[in-house]
Amino acid sequence: MNGNTLKYSRITGTGSHLPPRRLSNADMVADLAQRGIETSDDWIVERTGIRARHFAAHGVTCSDMAVDAARHALEAAGRRPSDIDLIIVATSTPDMVFPSTACLVQQKLGAFGGAAFDVQAVCSGFVYALTVADSLIRTGAATRALVIGSEIFSRILDFDDRTTCVLFGDGAGAVVLEASERPGLLASELHADGRHVEILCVPGTVAGGKVTGNPLLRMDGQAVFRLAVNVLDSVARAVLAKAGKTEADIDWLVPHQANIRIMQGTARKLKLPLDKLIATVHEHGNTSAASVPLALDVAVRDGRIKPGHTVMLEGVGGGFTWGAVLLDL
Ligand code: ACO
Repeated sequence: MNGNTLKYSRITGTGSHLPPRRLSNADMVADLAQRGIETSDDWIVERTGIRARHFAAHGVTCSDMAVDAARHALEAAGRRPSDIDLIIVATSTPDMVFPSTACLVQQKLGAFGGAAFDVQAVCSGFVYALTVADSLIRTGAATRALVIGSEIFSRILDFDDRTTCVLFGDGAGAVVLEASERPGLLASELHADGRHVEILCVPGTVAGGKVTGNPLLRMDGQAVFRLAVNVLDSVARAVLAKAGKTEADIDWLVPHQANIRIMQGTARKLKLPLDKLIATVHEHGNTSAASVPLALDVAVRDGRIKPGHTVMLEGVGGGFTWGAVLLDL
């Protein structure tokens, strides 16, 4: 643990990784047709906004993608792996039961000695991980963190279930979060409601040397949709109030990228013009804990999100979990 007297944390670099293999909706329609499963580009686009997703190649792991995203974030921040004293990986698709994906990332980066652990909050994972890292930095327990969201959902999809398999993709996003005299993270809120465990889960487990139960994702899409619309609005307002800001102070909204209808509905409720909404769901699908940092990195690198801008990050997903972070870049 490195003591410091700096009061705040701020993001100093972003990075991401997308597997090279891109599957358009047409590719998915063709692949699923071979299994006797019927879907269409029209259905997927109309219901979700998704036009393509990326799937990792056989043998590529969650930590491989996390490391690539982390290297880009470190480069953007002008930092080396040895500068990092905390690694948090948000993932629901870790390489192993244990050790944590964060420890594998530490091994691959060669950034030894600092704390490293995973956060499991499904699609809210990055917002959870960022809040934990901010807390550790503000208490002086860490000074420079890598906060990563990395997921290989293609490995837990049921390709006989058209209601879920067309929705998800693989990828990773990362930020370097550093102790700072100037405020970066302004406020955050994290929530969960375990009464809704059943509506989005992978109920299988490893026991007695084999997987028991169903190790594939299942979701009650409509139940998730209804909850998501409500909590994304209320949590954004709670975070704004905590930070002493209003909707008018938001330069960019970067919500979890699951469904364009949910994202646009959230922007409208916050009275934000849709051109303040960062949307990558059409190209990435739902990459769970990776979706927010991936979208953030895309918008930073294409020049929309600039230093000094105020950004609202929002996550929502299995658990049921949700949360938001308001930050100045
Ligand atoms: N292709 C064609 N038809 C389909 C497909 C498909 N891929 N999937 C479902 N259908 C059919 C259904 O069978 C149904 O047919 P029926 O009316 O004859 O029974 C019809 O389409 C409508 O199905 P619904 O489930 O009612 O479709 P809905 O409009 O609710 O959209 C969706 C489904 C896209 C899943 C939506 O509910 C949604 O986005 N939910 C939220 C998901 C989300 O936000 N997840 C975030 C968290 S993810 C995480 O944490 C891992």
